Amino acid sequence: MNTLPMIAPTIPLRRLETHVPFLNLKAQLKSIRAEIQEAVNQVLDSAHYVGGERVERFEAEFAAYVGARFAVAVGSGTAALELVLRASGIEFGDEVIVPANTFFATAEAVTNIGATPVFADVDPFTLHLAAESAESKITPRTRAIIPVHLHGRAMDMAEIEELATVRRLLVIEDACQAHGAQLNGVRVGGSGRPACFSFYPGKNLGAYGDAGAVTCDDPALARALRLLRDHGSPVKYEHAIVGTNSRLDAIQAAVLSVKLRKLEDWNLQRAQHAERYLRSLHASGLRLPAPAPAGAHNFHLFVIATPLREGLRAFLAERGIETGIHYPTPLHLTQAYRGPGRSAEGSLPVAERMAREMLSLPMFAELTETELAHVVIAVREFVAEHAPLAGEPSRAAA
Ligand SMILES: Cc1ncc(COP(=O)(O)O)c(C=O)c1O
Repeated sequence: MNTLPMIAPTIPLRRLETHVPFLNLKAQLKSIRAEIQEAVNQVLDSAHYVGGERVERFEAEFAAYVGARFAVAVGSGTAALELVLRASGIEFGDEVIVPANTFFATAEAVTNIGATPVFADVDPFTLHLAAESAESKITPRTRAIIPVHLHGRAMDMAEIEELATVRRLLVIEDACQAHGAQLNGVRVGGSGRPACFSFYPGKNLGAYGDAGAVTCDDPALARALRLLRDHGSPVKYEHAIVGTNSRLDAIQAAVLSVKLRKLEDWNLQRAQHAERYLRSLHASGLRLPAPAPAGAHNFHLFVIATPLREGLRAFLAERGIETGIHYPTPLHLTQAYRGPGRSAEGSLPVAERMAREMLSLPMFAELTETELAHVVIAVREFVAEHAPLAGEPSRAAA
């Protein structure tokens, strides 16, 4: 029996001619080209290309947007994580707990400052760091926890916060995918805790190159980050500490200021696409993103899951539909982090299963109704050919 809901009959079904990109930055640029060119031209004319007034302006705008006292712009999301860890005094011998299901940089930043990432499992419903698993990984050397607002869904921090308070651990939020997501009236980045953002081009708020920022409420931390990102230098050629070069350039800041004004609209459009996917696929038997309060998910990624992931991916590719896998290997099983003394295969079962089953569908603000319908029709065709799928629970099944 086919229980799948009908979708709009206006959809052209010339499936072989349709190409649906995973992300369409050209379409985005088309909608903002004049403003971007104007902003970039102003920077070119100013002849001030690194740091300076444009960067300060973007920092103020971004801090106000997320509701933080400070935003410190840096060279990338990875740098944001590294510099917060360094500024917080995390060092060689310290352990930092990170989820196994995240982008590699969450752990890499810990390793790069000399400390050791310790991997914990994720919650089967939200895919966020599971507090119980994190607690089981605490040792006398644990200094910090880095929860990740994965896929752009704002994580409810209550349990991790309580754990961190009781066990005297620092919490650093990896907000690299969560621009604009908000929970209980607080935007990600506005909690007061240090939060690290990436403005990599494909993010909901993306530059035209690498860029990142840390938001926080602590003036001492903001001061330390400003020193660290610029060779430890409070004044040119005076070096108070050893830092690095992780400054933001003025062209990226100007681009980000233009795009920040669009972010709310873009996130709203993503939410509408997500709603359409959810409505059209609710009876598909595929695991769909778990329900979240309005605004809590910015749908940076729309991630479904099925044990038939490889088959579905190939089926969609044949129909011109690009998909992504975020991420194919849980971090404890990557070549870089596996080995003796590390988390063994089978030890973090939810992250491991998700890495095998997750598939990211095309998702970006400019996704057209026709493109979205093409994806839905193709997914449903696949499901219909694999009938047993239709009997499985659909949303966020454990
Ligand atoms: C969860 C997460 N953490 C960290 C990063 C690193 O950010 P960047 O690529 O700007 O260094 C990213 C970005 O890809 C990310 O998605």
